[in-house]
Amino acid sequence: MTDALFESTIKSLPLLGRGKVRDIYAVGDDKLLIVTSDRLSAFDVILPDPIPGKGRLLTQLACFWFEKLAAIVPNQMTGIDPESVVADDERAQVRGRSLVVKRLRPLPIEAVVRGYLIGSGWKDYQATGAVCGIPLPPGLCLASRLPEPIFTPATKAAIGDHDENVSFERAQADCASALADLLAVAGKSGAEIATQTRAVAIALYTAAAEHAATRGIIIADTKFEFGLDAAGTLHLIDEVLTPDSSRFWPADDYREGSNPPSYDKQYIRDYLETLPWNKQAPGPSLPLAVIAGTRAKYAEALQCLTGEKPVQ
Ligand SMILES: Nc1ncnc2c1ncn2[C@@H]1O[C@H](COP(=O)(O)OP(=O)(O)O)[C@@H](O)[C@H]1O
Ligand SMILES: [Mg+2]
Repeated sequence: MTDALFESTIKSLPLLGRGKVRDIYAVGDDKLLIVTSDRLSAFDVILPDPIPGKGRLLTQLACFWFEKLAAIVPNQMTGIDPESVVADDERAQVRGRSLVVKRLRPLPIEAVVRGYLIGSGWKDYQATGAVCGIPLPPGLCLASRLPEPIFTPATKAAIGDHDENVSFERAQADCASALADLLAVAGKSGAEIATQTRAVAIALYTAAAEHAATRGIIIADTKFEFGLDAAGTLHLIDEVLTPDSSRFWPADDYREGSNPPSYDKQYIRDYLETLPWNKQAPGPSLPLAVIAGTRAKYAEALQCLTGEKPVQ
């Protein structure tokens, strides 16, 4: 196992903020250095123990997808080597786990696409027969494949809060209000941006799911984030199609009606459910075997999806 990075400490660039997993620094005024730490969040709480090497596994997988999906929509990538924007004694910290990206204006929504009925989608369907207001045929079961992938946006919650599923109309309104100044200059509306986001997110999911199927993996659902440049052009940002943002199921073990085993955060969620923990911070510390098991899941996801070995 490699050393873990819980939190980066880059002094040569201004720190803009720390998300649950990523530390964000400014590179000039139009780019960001995103350092993916080894922090693990579950139920929206950052756990005290990092997963050694997780940030590098996530970065490697995200890079694979950015390249594979580049023809569908522009993305945040700049091709700039992260080691070239930090001081010499900071290079090891960013190596293999960082990206220098275009600094874009994030949309105020998480662009969730679901191909299967699981998680909050399954709960919503049981209660209402619909997911985020999208009516679905009756008689679907847990983990059923949907007739076609659906776009089910969610609000972006502040740290410690949970994302909330919202209707498409609400997503349009949120884009209009959060991006009003930029959209006025670009001559676009919130409704246009949300409509384009829905189409692009479904196209990305469909292409990724087709690739994953050739590798024996089902992508049950995933969450994309998008940002706009000054001209209002939509870009794919953040992380993409990682175990943190997606549910990956081995196709061989898939059975409609039951919760499939997975290459994603379900492993750690299942462990946490065995503890008497109220899912509020601070989270519990993890036994070494669970840390190793979690790391193995992330490495397995990378190898299965890309055929690449982890670059350590
Ligand atoms: N290219 C980009 N331009 C601007 N903001 C970005 C870009 N890529 C990612 N971000 C933002 O950086 C943060 C990434 O940190 P992360 O730890 O994933 O945060 P979170 O806790 O919100 O999931 C997110 O708030 C995301 O919206
Ligand atoms: Mg995130």
